[in-house]
Amino acid sequence: MSVKITGIGHAVPDGVLTNFDLEKMMDTSDEWITERTGIKERRIAPKGSATSEYAARASRKAMDMAGVGPEEIDAIIVATLTPDMKFPSTACFLQEKLGAQRAYAFDLNAACSGFIYSLTVAKGLIESGAARKVLVSGAELLSTIINFDDRSTAVLFGDGAGAVVLEDVPDEEGIICTALHSDGSLWELLNCPGGGSVYPISKEMIDEKLHYIRMNGNETFKNAVTRLVEVTREVLEKSGRTIDDIDLFIPHQANKRIIDAVAKRLGLSDGKAYLNLHKYGNTSAASIPIAMSEAWEEGALKKGDLLLISAFGAGLTWGSALIRM
Ligand code: UT7
Repeated sequence: MSVKITGIGHAVPDGVLTNFDLEKMMDTSDEWITERTGIKERRIAPKGSATSEYAARASRKAMDMAGVGPEEIDAIIVATLTPDMKFPSTACFLQEKLGAQRAYAFDLNAACSGFIYSLTVAKGLIESGAARKVLVSGAELLSTIINFDDRSTAVLFGDGAGAVVLEDVPDEEGIICTALHSDGSLWELLNCPGGGSVYPISKEMIDEKLHYIRMNGNETFKNAVTRLVEVTREVLEKSGRTIDDIDLFIPHQANKRIIDAVAKRLGLSDGKAYLNLHKYGNTSAASIPIAMSEAWEEGALKKGDLLLISAFGAGLTWGSALIRM
């Protein structure tokens, strides 16, 4: 049995927020943001938008490419930390929007690693016989939890969604290997504490701005580089491949300096690390499927290519997957 990605799609809001726009809103500069992160602009959805709207647009494109109708989908997983509502799941809203009436649907929260976690779960569902065709979407409206009074985080994040269709394609290689890790002891490095059971919604919680993203950037950066290198090597070793076998590396799009450092330590050839964070910033669980979809549209990722994806995020969580397209 082989679990293959047969469709990919993405959708982003039309609204563009550039570094120059941010210069007018806070004490920052295009030069600082570009040098420290590589980000030039990000997409921001109109107020009142639903994460599932973008997930649905991305999913329809992925389903069109796969030639799979809504009635054929057995399971829907949405990787998100910005759900439409606390409950029901964004995956249920997506199911309704797609008319995928046969599917069971649930969300998965592994922050920026959520897409790779979801791919691993989807692969397991198909291999166990619990589903034949699975739709996975990484979808985020991070603008809903950005603190625009905190320049150290406000410049980093954006909105968007990507999606893939997974199915059993016998006699063809598909998702070859994945590796996942977590370290909950480092949760304080990156979180959004308000609105859960520890800090339920209250005037005090909002006054303390606990409903926004908080991050220790330096420590997160250091952990990201170390863990991304480790887990990427783990997946290569487990599958008996080397970095030279890889056609394209799509890392989580958080910071160009992180990607450059990881690519250098892995010994990746120039031009094999895909970057689109200059256009979208960090879109958390959506970043890898958006990048996969764009790379496919541009011809940078083709059928038969050996694709390596790696992500790192809050939790802490990190993971990697080796995929034959
Ligand atoms: O997706 C999940 C994983 N997330 C990440 O991987 C993010 C990891 N972290 C990072 O990408 C980087 O740590 C940041 C981009 C967030 C920050 O870059 P940095 O090089 O670590 O900067 P810093 O936090 O050490 O700040 C350096 C200086 C400080 O000023 P002083 O204290 O040196 O005077 C900051 O106040 O830059 C200042 N600064 C800014 N200046 C202009 C912080 N944010 C800004 C800003 N504009 N937006």
